[in-house]
Amino acid sequence: MRFFIKQAADSVGKSVTVQGWMYNKRGSGKIFFLQLRDGSGIMQAVVETAKVNEEVMKKAESLTIESSVRVTGEITKHPKHEGVYEMQVSDIEVVQIAEEYPIGKKEHGPDFLLDHRHLWLRSERQLAILRIRDEIIRATVEWFHENGFLKIDTPILSNNACEGSGELFEIDYFGEPAYLSQSGQLYLEAAVMSCGRGYDFGPVFRSEKSKTRRHLTEFWMMDAEATFCDLEGILEIEENLVCHILKRVLENRVKELNLLERPIEPLQKIKAPFLRMHHADVVKKLHELGSDIKEDDDLGGDDETMLTQQYDQPIFVTHYPSKVKAFYMKRTPDGTRALCADLLAPEGYGEIIGGSQREDDLELMRKWMAEHGIPEKGLEWYLDLRRYGSVPHAGFGYGLERIVTWICSLKHVRESIPFPRMISRLTP
Ligand code: 4AD
Ligand code: MG
Repeated sequence: MRFFIKQAADSVGKSVTVQGWMYNKRGSGKIFFLQLRDGSGIMQAVVETAKVNEEVMKKAESLTIESSVRVTGEITKHPKHEGVYEMQVSDIEVVQIAEEYPIGKKEHGPDFLLDHRHLWLRSERQLAILRIRDEIIRATVEWFHENGFLKIDTPILSNNACEGSGELFEIDYFGEPAYLSQSGQLYLEAAVMSCGRGYDFGPVFRSEKSKTRRHLTEFWMMDAEATFCDLEGILEIEENLVCHILKRVLENRVKELNLLERPIEPLQKIKAPFLRMHHADVVKKLHELGSDIKEDDDLGGDDETMLTQQYDQPIFVTHYPSKVKAFYMKRTPDGTRALCADLLAPEGYGEIIGGSQREDDLELMRKWMAEHGIPEKGLEWYLDLRRYGSVPHAGFGYGLERIVTWICSLKHVRESIPFPRMISRLTP
């Protein structure tokens, strides 16, 4: 059976082989302390002249940072630290001696680290983020499964602009223009008229020209949609999902949060129902805080930061002016405001979810499309949903990287995804 470092506690007294990389090394001459990592954990392996032959000692000496190895030895309890295990090495097999590793202990600038992202991912900190990201995905899928939402796979290639034409990546599709998906929402709306409630999860693309700490050009979105559901109904679904994600992260990933020095208490405090604030009240509040936002403006990144630093709970900002929101949103009877909400994460993180009730009336939908300059051609199928058994329905989409950034308390969204894509970064 293949041994993994995370099983060390159950293997005390046994001789096992760690297959991994040398993370770090101390010692010289008569004794070496190798820090080995194998993806499941990190363990110290002690190589002593008293216990191994000269050849093994020489191999230990030759190991450079990130050299790949198979190291065999007996697992023992650390003499001083409770719950820590070590290996007393009996043999070393060198798989490859690594060249001088470019990432050292000294501080590197963000560009250097991003240029070496393929290697940077091996650091303990980056692995902790990957683990938390995985936990969030698992908790999301689990919650939807338990709550009757069917996983629907929506297309990446499409002929329409779900979120407006400004940020579309266009490609040549056999001589016709096609676009990379900005969100699977419109397709999900079609699918839930079959299954009732559904969600998708996949990469989406926005040709964001802005360089901010919140924007990527490729990110992972989870869209969810529910039939016979209004704005308040979808907000309840959102807050229950977010609470479930936090519960799972706090149950299973405290070690990683601690490693990231992410304070736990602000996450533990979060409870449904979240705050709900009308856009008009938010504008007033922001004026008090010194913002020059206008009454019918969207919230800017700085506004979101300012607002969310005031509260320790997530905030639903509801009823944005309809002209700053997408065409598909249902509106208040006077047509001026959208029945929508952005969910803003506390501690200054800002928008993590965008959602709304959808326009379910054929003629009003046509009117909003015309207002937003969305051509009906190519979206006839979407209008059909308002012709054949239209029902009130609502949905939302979360940006996985925004959630990871908030939960891990990262300064920039680029660390929340294995290989970030930004306006000036496509490599590695
Ligand atoms: O608010 P957005 O644009 O909403 C939609 O796309 C809807 N169609 C979703 C739906 O109702 N099914 O995007 C949803 C979320 C945002 O709240 C944000 O978390 C994230 O996606 N997001 C980004 N994340 C990283 N980089 C970007 N450029 C992002 N743009 C949006
Ligand atoms: Mg949004």
